[in-house]
Amino acid sequence: MNEISIGLLGLGTVGSGVVQIIEDHQEKLMYQVGCPIKVKKILVKSLDKERAIEVDPSVLTTDVNDVLFDPEIDIVVEVMGGVEQTKNLLIQALNNKKHVVTANKDLMAVYGSELLTVAAENGCDLFFEASVAGGIPIIRTIVDGLASDRITKMMGIVNGTTNFILTKMNNGGASYDEVLKEAQELGFAEADPTSDVEGLDAARKMAILATLGFSMKIDLADVSVQGITGITEEDLQYGKQLGYTMKLIGIAQEDDGKVEVSVQPTFLSNSHPLASVQNEYNAVYVCGEAVGETMFYGPGAGSLPTATSIVSDIVVVMKNMRLGVNGKSAISPQYQKNMKSDAEIFSKYFLRLQVSDSIGVFAEITSLFAEHNISFEKILQLPIQKRVVAEVVLVTHHASKRDFEDILGRLRDLQSVKNIKSCYRVERSTGN
Ligand code: HSE
Repeated sequence: MNEISIGLLGLGTVGSGVVQIIEDHQEKLMYQVGCPIKVKKILVKSLDKERAIEVDPSVLTTDVNDVLFDPEIDIVVEVMGGVEQTKNLLIQALNNKKHVVTANKDLMAVYGSELLTVAAENGCDLFFEASVAGGIPIIRTIVDGLASDRITKMMGIVNGTTNFILTKMNNGGASYDEVLKEAQELGFAEADPTSDVEGLDAARKMAILATLGFSMKIDLADVSVQGITGITEEDLQYGKQLGYTMKLIGIAQEDDGKVEVSVQPTFLSNSHPLASVQNEYNAVYVCGEAVGETMFYGPGAGSLPTATSIVSDIVVVMKNMRLGVNGKSAISPQYQKNMKSDAEIFSKYFLRLQVSDSIGVFAEITSLFAEHNISFEKILQLPIQKRVVAEVVLVTHHASKRDFEDILGRLRDLQSVKNIKSCYRVERSTGN
């Protein structure tokens, strides 16, 4: 190989980072892959737009076919986003025998297996390291680094926007709306933050991780999702008193061949390794049967961190080209999908209730839990600011989701329970 040519689809924040890393790390890249990497064409929306980096104008095009049908382009790097149309473009690229590297989790969460099949049929590589947790090499860690182990649980802080918001709420006593506004001003949160704050962005990433970690095709629809919009300062105050930190946590867990995948606001005990992940940072905590607890930490977004993962994927494609083994590394899932029922999903729960301040209320509530054989780990009744009725916080021992939801339904029917203010999953690390 004298030279490898790349075609970029998109030149936004991440695309600019890719161009910059290829330029800045040229010498190291060349040593690793044995020839120079050239960015031959870049698809952009407008030729005249001002760019964060300097690019030779002759490289820019507004015609996607200049990338997809250029016989000299070996690798197409997709950093423009979008799902349906982008999928069709990438299928075209693969059918034209071009390897594909993408950062697109929305696309991979929905069409990942279809695209991997098309890639394999064409003898092409399709890599997507940047699609989960930006600069953290978590996909390669799960697929290669832990290939020898059986992964039992993955917990991820895989959305930087929500981690930033929750960190600020936790530290500053500010409300969700105030912190969201600050995050938007600082450029962390999108003008329309729906997919971040409603947990969808994290759900897509967890679907990708679960599929790879458990070798089972987990669809986005298999992920139970709850966002952070309902979290209040009072919830966080109570959490602090109990030694918990609130995080938006993606959980993918396997027990006896059955899997659960969810994204939800979760109280972590302060000693959990994920509890100290602050601001916009991401981390993925992975438990393996043999290795035990591991954790991978780093930036989940941003131009250069995300581009690092993309360019590393390019390096792997090029190494495979040299060895003549492109399209051979993707393996289809080993197992049929087998999701747990609600009766098989167990966790501890934090429950905050407003109750009438009268005799016998506690007995009434606790008897509901006793019926399901669920005991309490912690019970708290403390006055907090603005209190109008008696407020009680209960933390249960392990309970099934089915039993817990049954109890919630019955609590709603009790005269003495005025309001179920909030309810969160509680997690401790397996190491303590
Ligand atoms: N919106 C995402 C986040 C960016 O906040 O983490 C990276 O996918």
